[in-house]
Amino acid sequence: MTRINIFDTTLRDGEQSPGVNLNQLEKIEIAKQLERFGVDIMEAGFPASSKGDFEAVRKIAQSIKNSSVTGLARAIKSDIDIAWDALKDAEEPRLHVFIATSPIHMTYKLKKTPDEVIKTAVETVKYARQRFPKVQWSAEDASRSDYDFLVRIIEEVIDAGASVVNLPDTVGYTTPEEYGKLFRYVKENVRNIDQASLSAHCHDDLGMAVANSLAAAENGATQIEGTINGIGERAGNAALEEFAVALNIRHDKYPFHTNLVLKEIKRTSDLVSRFTGMMVPANKAVVGRNAFAHESGIHQDGVLKNASTYEIITPELVGITSNNLVLGKHSGRHAFKDKIKSLGYELTEEKLQDAFQAFKLLTDHKKEVTDDDLFTILTDIQTDV
Ligand code: KIV
Ligand code: ZN
Repeated sequence: MTRINIFDTTLRDGEQSPGVNLNQLEKIEIAKQLERFGVDIMEAGFPASSKGDFEAVRKIAQSIKNSSVTGLARAIKSDIDIAWDALKDAEEPRLHVFIATSPIHMTYKLKKTPDEVIKTAVETVKYARQRFPKVQWSAEDASRSDYDFLVRIIEEVIDAGASVVNLPDTVGYTTPEEYGKLFRYVKENVRNIDQASLSAHCHDDLGMAVANSLAAAENGATQIEGTINGIGERAGNAALEEFAVALNIRHDKYPFHTNLVLKEIKRTSDLVSRFTGMMVPANKAVVGRNAFAHESGIHQDGVLKNASTYEIITPELVGITSNNLVLGKHSGRHAFKDKIKSLGYELTEEKLQDAFQAFKLLTDHKKEVTDDDLFTILTDIQTDV
């Protein structure tokens, strides 16, 4: 079974969702949960984009130990310098640098010739490698780029020191068949491809991001990029929880495995939804409220006789339990701690004590304390950074 590395970009591309603006504390909490979920790499932000993003990336790089932390940079030396300052304390500092390769982007956005784009890409990868042990290079709008131009530029950036080459479907335009063909072409024609791994990064404009990611994996991609709940620019990115569950349920078709801990899916999805303010649609695959609900009499009857009649995924697989622990004035510290953990938080003893006291005060006025009440308490006491 081939191992697929999961590259999560909830904190960068996901944060580019219209209307989403995560503060530093929220970013750190999400990063910790992504680490528990088992992502191999997390893109913590775009350090040169703002002071706030720089600080959040720096803090995440310092506190995350079990996932690699990366940050985005344009093919500009100053972006790379800023990214290095933000990432240098990470366990395995890693840079993600990109430049557009499609005729549309090169002509209208970059106003550069293809040769100039190659020159800039090579110079910036070489520059980045003077500091970063690992550099991922992305060909923005790869799916609308000329295949032979891609082969040329990929050979050059690998020679310059890039060890991951990402071929994004930036505008969500491609189909599974076309995207798979692109990966196969690159695998078969790039002379030094054995010195790098291939990554897929899909957007969901035509609703095919997960299907395209699966097609890329079937054709040589060993890294898949995406976000929790599929949030991201415009219609969003490939939903990582859908990709992971598809591999698990259809292992007969997809001989791949990841490091993801599937039972962390629900918790991760809830945390991201809450902090970003982006509600998960009820009918969303894997994490939607209705994903495991059966409404019609015929379906209910079938499920009662044998759940496999209408249920291909069990709720337990993705961490949905029937544990409806209700917190109220008789609840003790232990139940409180368990509940806080189930919401995705890990508090120091001191902060836990503060939160418990605030909870006890609330139970004087409220019979039942809801998850929303707890989130308010947790935000108020400021979680451990
Ligand atoms: O969609 C895209 O092309 C991107 C790049 C920056 C990798 O997000
Ligand atoms: Zn993107």
